[in-house]
Order: sequence, then C-alpha cells, then structure tokens
Amino acid sequence: MAKDFDLMENSNRSANPTIYDVSDPARRIFVRGALASATAALFGGGLLAGCASTGSSKAAALGRDIGFASVPMRDVDDVLVPPGYTARVICRWGDPVGIAGKMPAFKPDGSNSAEEQAVQLGMHHDGMAYFPLDGSRRGLLAINHEYTDDGLLHPDGMKTWTADKVRKAQAAHGVSIVEVEATPNGWRQVLPSKYARRITAATPMLISGPAAGHTWMKTAADPTGTRVLGTLNNCANGYTPWGTYLTCEENFINYFHGPDNPDEHGKRWGLKKGGAGYRWHEFDERFDATKHPNEPNRFGWVVEIDPMDPSMTPIKRTALGRAAHEGATVALTDDGRAVVYMGEDARFEYIYKFVSRDRVKPGGFAANRDLLDHGTLYVAKFNADGTGEWLPLVHDRGPLTAANGFANQGAVLIKARQASDLLGATKMDRPEWTAVDPISKEVYCTLTNNSNRGRDKSPGVDAANPRANNTMGHIIRWKESGDLDATRFTWSHFVLAGDPSLPRAEAKGNIRGDIFGSPDGLWVDPRGVLWIQTDVSTSTLGKGDYVNLPNNQMLACDPTKGEIRRFLVGPRGCEVTGITMTPDLRTMFINIQHPGESPSERSDPDEPMKFSRWPDGGRPRSATVVITKNDGGVIGL
Ligand code: FEO
Ligand code: CA
Ligand code: CA
Repeated sequence: MAKDFDLMENSNRSANPTIYDVSDPARRIFVRGALASATAALFGGGLLAGCASTGSSKAAALGRDIGFASVPMRDVDDVLVPPGYTARVICRWGDPVGIAGKMPAFKPDGSNSAEEQAVQLGMHHDGMAYFPLDGSRRGLLAINHEYTDDGLLHPDGMKTWTADKVRKAQAAHGVSIVEVEATPNGWRQVLPSKYARRITAATPMLISGPAAGHTWMKTAADPTGTRVLGTLNNCANGYTPWGTYLTCEENFINYFHGPDNPDEHGKRWGLKKGGAGYRWHEFDERFDATKHPNEPNRFGWVVEIDPMDPSMTPIKRTALGRAAHEGATVALTDDGRAVVYMGEDARFEYIYKFVSRDRVKPGGFAANRDLLDHGTLYVAKFNADGTGEWLPLVHDRGPLTAANGFANQGAVLIKARQASDLLGATKMDRPEWTAVDPISKEVYCTLTNNSNRGRDKSPGVDAANPRANNTMGHIIRWKESGDLDATRFTWSHFVLAGDPSLPRAEAKGNIRGDIFGSPDGLWVDPRGVLWIQTDVSTSTLGKGDYVNLPNNQMLACDPTKGEIRRFLVGPRGCEVTGITMTPDLRTMFINIQHPGESPSERSDPDEPMKFSRWPDGGRPRSATVVITKNDGGVIGL
C-alpha cells in the first residue's frame, strides 16, 4: 500500500536504459534439482490436504535453468512479461465474485451500491493463494483486498460523504474467494461457483487464542471479547498445510478516529485524530476510538479462513500476536509443528516467529482447527556478529510481568509492540513479506525501505539495517541453528537493493542483475526460485534513487546463483503483489494493485485516470493477472 497519499506523483516518465537493461541470453540462472513435489519439501508431503501448492510438480523440470529473457524496464500502462509468455487479466475489482443469483455487473462510473459491492471482488488486490480443486486445471483463488481509494469507489469520490459510501467502502475490503479453471481458450473465472464468497469489514468473525475474551478485547457490542465484525487492510497472506488461508491485518489503525492526545498504548500503535482519512467513524461509531477505545485491539491479527467452506466463520488467531501484520508464512519443523514467520510493516518494527505446540495432523482443517491457538511467539534480535536470537513473548518470562503492564498472556499479545520493545528486539526497516526456501530452509524477509533511519531522533543504522535514509530497501536472510523452531540463527544480507550506477547503491551479498528497490512481495516457489515484487511509492518512482525505475516490477532469482532477473513490469502507478502458482508450475497468478495511484486518489475520481486506465480504458482497477507460457511449459524455465 502506498504510504504517501499527500505527496506529489512523479512526473518523470522517462525510459532511460540502465546498464542492466540489455538482455543477455547467456545469462542463465540454474534452478536447483531434486524437487519432487511443490510442498513436500516445505510441508512434509503426507500432511497435505488440499493446500495451496499440493500435488506433484514433476513437470518442474529438474535441474534446468531459468530461461526467460529479462524484461526491460519501461514506462508503460500495461503488464509486460518476457517473450513467449502471455499475461491476461482474470478478475478485477468490481467483477462479480460468482454467487449464484447475485452477480451484478460492474458499473464503470463507480455507481454500484454497497450491496452490489458486497458480492463483487473488493478493491486493491494484494496477497493471494491458489487452492486446487482439480489439480492444476481448476481451483480457488483467495484474494486479499487491502484498502480502498474512495476517489475511484464512488461516482463523485469523497466530494460528498454518506453512510452508504462507508458501507460500500467496508464491502470493498477483506477477501474474495473465486473459482478459476483452465479452458482451451485460457483461464477463466467460474460463474457462478458454489465456493464463491466475499469476506468484508462487516463479516462476523470469531476471536480465538490467549487474547480472546481479554478485558481489552471487550466492547459494548461484544461484552465477551470473542466476536468481531470484519477484517481490515488485508495485505499479505499465508496458507497452511491443512488447507486454510491466512489473511493479515496490516494498517488497521488508519481506520480509527482517536482522541487529540491518545494514551501511551494508542500512541504506540499510531492512533490519531481522524485516522488516515477513511472517515468511517462519521457514520459507523465503532470506528470512533474515543467512544469505543477497545475496538482497535480487535484488529491487527492473522485471520484463518477455510476457502472450501463458504459458511465457515473466519477466526482471528491471537496466539500469533497483534501487529500491523504484513504476511504469515507457514513452514513445518521436522516433527510436523507449524512455524509461522511474520513481518510487521512499519518503520522500526519487528520480525516475529510463532511455533505451534502441537503437530499438524492429517485430516485438513477439521483436524487442525485449534492448531494456531497454542504455541510460542518470538521476536527477532539481530546481533552485530551475524548471529541472532528469537526472544519469547511469554507472560512472566523476562521483563513481561504484571509490574511492567503485562498481567497475562493476552496482554503480551495485544501489546506485542510494547513487549518487543522491552525485550530489546531489533527495530527493522519495515519488514514486509517473509519466505521460506523449501529446500535450504533459509528464511528471507523483505525490508522495503525506511527513509527515517538515522534521521533526527529516529534510530540510527545497525548491523541488520545498515543504511541511513534507506530509500531502496534490502532483503535479509537467516538460517535457524537447527530445526525451524530453534531460538538462535545466523543471518546475512541477501541483497541491498539499488542501482549500482548511482552512488548510494552498494554491492553486497554477491547479487547481480536487474535493478530494483522497495522489495515487498516475496515467495520461494517449490523449485527454490525466489520471486521478488516491488512496491515503490508513486511519489518516488522515476525520481532520485529511482530515476531508472518508472514502474513497479517482479523479478526472479535463484539464490544459489545470485542473479536477479526482471520477469514483469507493471502498469503505471501500480504495485505488483500477490503471487501463487498451480502445482504443475505452468500457471502463475499475480496481482496488480492500485494502478494509476495519484496524489488525489482519495477524493477525486478523475485524477487517477490521468496516470492509468489499466486494464479496460476507464477507471483503473486492481486485478488478478494469469501468466502462462505460450508453449504450455513451466513458468520460468
Ligand atoms: Fe500492505 Fe506493507 O504492504
Ligand atoms: Ca505489501
Ligand atoms: Ca509495501
């Protein structure tokens, strides 16, 4: 999500070539061999039950090189992929999600009602996962909708403001479950589908785990502290070996109207008067934290959804801690316990790891319904000598005592930021997605950027975050000392992003190839290919350190070889996010979010169209894009 609503859009649309822009067919990235199944290595094979990447991927030709030609960076209002590939839009904001009898057409002037929006795909697609119904030919996509640009959402943007507009904005948040299938004419959305579902900011949900029922979770509408309406700002995601989808609540605090002078807890979580301008509190009182001070505590969680069951009540899993959650990447220990890696995307926030108490059982969600309610949450400390420690967020351990404001485990989890502060965790440069290499078990995390590092009273550089005014971001990598539940690790910088032709970019980590900055989306596919997606703010694209990067992009890398090669360039003003593949690795789905992002997007419906009319020539629409190879081959080879 763009952070700089009030900054000027760049006007530099030049397509300056860079030293890396000449595609060299001799550059080949070797893909590691010996991989039998998409998730066997990551999830332990036999435990799988309809999970996102289940199934044999023998088609992932073993030991071959990545073979695509680098896509030159260009300032275009389109999706560019390598020669021999095709990218097609499959489902956009406002398309019917596919509920039988409730499939209203999208109205290009933004005049769909709140009720119609509640059965159409939401706005601003983000994290996403494919759940097979028929292997690699038919499946479900669970798609996050991070936030709304109300300028685009309504016919006259925010020039007027009504209760109906608030209800429509809430209906455009959350998650969509859509069914997709391969046909002789390419992939299409299945309409209608018995699986089709919208989960919005008004959908009833359960709260589970140690913070459920806590005093700080109780409100006038929910005196039990165990039930809540909706999920917000669903950014990145995860998927579990037992077949469920995890959606993560990122910048939830932006929706809440706070007092002039918030208390210490409110300040630590960024509560402020007016929030970030969503204006929901004007017509929906629960978003007025001056009247309902506990309501914000009920957001900032990882939410579990069974995509196969449209009647399932989503569950907020408090054992995983409260944060401005970016994503939740699940892997397994050797004995089958779930490990969840999570970044908190805010300046100087932390990286977390949850280790489940129990082993994953065969039998899908029914057999693992409580698995994410019991376990230990840790926060990362990166030492200067290349070692690191996982510090437990456990009540009465170390400083996390009642005397310090943590009377029980629920308090530790609700105030996870304050607990991590006390433990001395390392303040990172905006941790975004995490990814676990299924083969090497190395873990990666994107640190997208942090221009405040070293500025004024902000923290200065440290070993893990080595650049002051870190405009370009970096990717950190660690290896647990033993199994994934270890409490110690060793770490290194995988890459400090930047353009080597500019003075600020240092070569580090033996990485070479196409330039990028502000890494965000991150996934290691079952072969061990690391996919990197970028989210450079539109106020920055094409300027300064980004002078050669007018648009956002996606790149691929074999970490054992170190070359990073550009696979995709996105339309103007978008970020590239969300990535998943069918088990045979012959189809990739990615999301294009907020094409045409502009300085006035929150209020003016016409402004974004000056920058982008992707994909249909009218109001720009976030959309899922399906990518296939024209010869039907495996993506990337
Ligand atoms: Fe929603 Fe941190 O990106
Ligand atoms: Ca993101
Ligand atoms: Ca981002």
